[in-house]
Order: sequence, then C-alpha cells, then structure tokens
Amino acid sequence: MKKVRKAIIPAAGLGTRFLPVTKSMPKEMLPIVDKPTIQYIVEEAIASGIEDILIVTGKGKRAIEDHFDFAPELEQNLREKGKLELLDKVQYSTNLADIHYIRQKEPKGLGYAVWCARNFIGDEPFAVLLGDDIVQSDTPCLRQLMNIYEETHSSVIGVQTVPDNETHRYGIVEPSVQEGRRYQVDNFVEKPAPGTAPSNLAIMGRYILTPEIFTILDKQQTGAGGEIQLTDAIQKLNQIQRVFAYDFEGKRYDVGEKIGFVKTTIDFALQNPELRSELLTYLDEVMDELKVK
Ligand code: G1P
Repeated sequence: MKKVRKAIIPAAGLGTRFLPVTKSMPKEMLPIVDKPTIQYIVEEAIASGIEDILIVTGKGKRAIEDHFDFAPELEQNLREKGKLELLDKVQYSTNLADIHYIRQKEPKGLGYAVWCARNFIGDEPFAVLLGDDIVQSDTPCLRQLMNIYEETHSSVIGVQTVPDNETHRYGIVEPSVQEGRRYQVDNFVEKPAPGTAPSNLAIMGRYILTPEIFTILDKQQTGAGGEIQLTDAIQKLNQIQRVFAYDFEGKRYDVGEKIGFVKTTIDFALQNPELRSELLTYLDEVMDELKVK
C-alpha cells in the first residue's frame, strides 16, 4: 500500500469576506493571536506525518512564502538583542516543513486548485487541507483520516454535523451505512439549496484522496458558483471506488468568516497562559457594561 506522504494546501482564494484587509494581504496570513492561520494548518499536516507540502498560491500571496522562508536579518537582530524566545518562534516557522509552491493562474475553484497539484502528487494517495478550518483535537484531524485510509485503502473525507440553517454553506454527504464514526456515502452534494440537504454531515476541509481524482478533474465542468468543485469530482470518484466520510473528533474553528474568526481569536487567547486572566477580566467588564445598558 502506498503511504499518504504529500499534502496540498489551496491558498489562492481572494479572501473577499475579509475585505478590505485582504486587498493587500493574503487571508491565510491573518493572525490568530500571534500565528498566521496557515501555520496552524501546516503544523497539523506535519503532526499527522505528512512529509511534503504544496501550497497552491496566486497573485498577492508572497507573504506566505516569506513567512516560511529563512529570515537572516530578523534572526540576527533578535540574537543581538537577546530575544531568544522570539528567535525560536521565527526559526520554528522556517524549519517546520519542506514546503513547495505553485501558482494557480486563475481563481477557478477548489477542484481546479487541487488539479494544479497533479504533477507534484503523481500516482499516490494524498491529503488536502483547507485553511478556513482549524481543528483542535488530541489526535490531529488529518491523522484520524490517514488512519482510516490505512485501514481501508480508500479516499476519506472529514465531516462534522452542522445545524439545518448552515448546510447550504458546505459540501454535504448523503450517508448510507454508518460504521461507528465512519460512513459509506451515496452522494456528495456541494452547497445544496436551503432545505434540500440530504443530511447534516458537512465536509470540513480535510480530505484523503486517491490519485484517480485527477483523471476526473481533467474533465470536470464548473458547478456551484460557476467554479470547478472538488465535491463534484469526489461524487464521481465515489461511483468508481469507495469514498468514506469520517466524523472526526475535535473542535473545528471556522476562520473563513468574520464571526468564526473572532470566536477563534477569543478561544485561542483564553488558551494562552500569558493572556488568559487579563482577557477574562476584560470580558467580565464588557459583559457588566452591556448589562448596565
Ligand atoms: C469548501 C468546499 C466545501 C466545504 C468547505 C469547508 O467550500 O467546497 O465542500 O464544505 O470548503 O470549509 P468554501 O468554503 O471554500 O466555499
């Protein structure tokens, strides 16, 4: 059996939900406390056992490459000032992983971004991690999916349950047989119209796929939103080989939209021992002020 060694992180999106900040800054570089969101994703991939990462970038994304690059002048400056803890943090992001980059020329959808990575992946199973979803869990989310791949040798898609009023924002699976947290799937539907979703199990930005997906993406037509949809290609893959859904364990944070981003920032700050007590005091004050009004 071929191992899952490589991962794709699509990062070519325009980040329109965060305009104007994303006018000149990649949304993947927005910080949760002091780390850009994309670093959390790279860390999950590495913690799961991924060896090589390809980030699919586009125009205006240079800051991502700089972030994971060697920064000799900055390092020198921190060393001279004795700021060794910060130096560690800077070096950590440089040494984290072997990261490769490819530029997607047009923003034509997630399916297209994955297709751009076909030569990097070749003929082996691989992972896709989307930057809008950060997952905190005991076993890294991607590792959970890799375990299922090692058991079944099949593609597997990470899902979690969402409320009825949110199904239209996601790829949704129509499950057939449930085996613990794992599901066999009849259909994968990208962003079903409100009230038409076949279940509440939503695709959450973590995938293990077999390379046959590329043959399908070669011919994939545009779908929802006029984009080439990965979910549509997965639906076709599921007709020629099994694709499982896996209800992974862990708390998923949606950093792809404003309210999710703010909640994530608060939660992560509360987990940070340097910030926790001051933030709690501040939140109490805010709540008290609101009650007075
Ligand atoms: C993408 C996928 C969708 C998935 C979602 C998870 O949509 O197309 O199937 O449920 O990510 O975050 P996007 O949010 O990029 O529109």
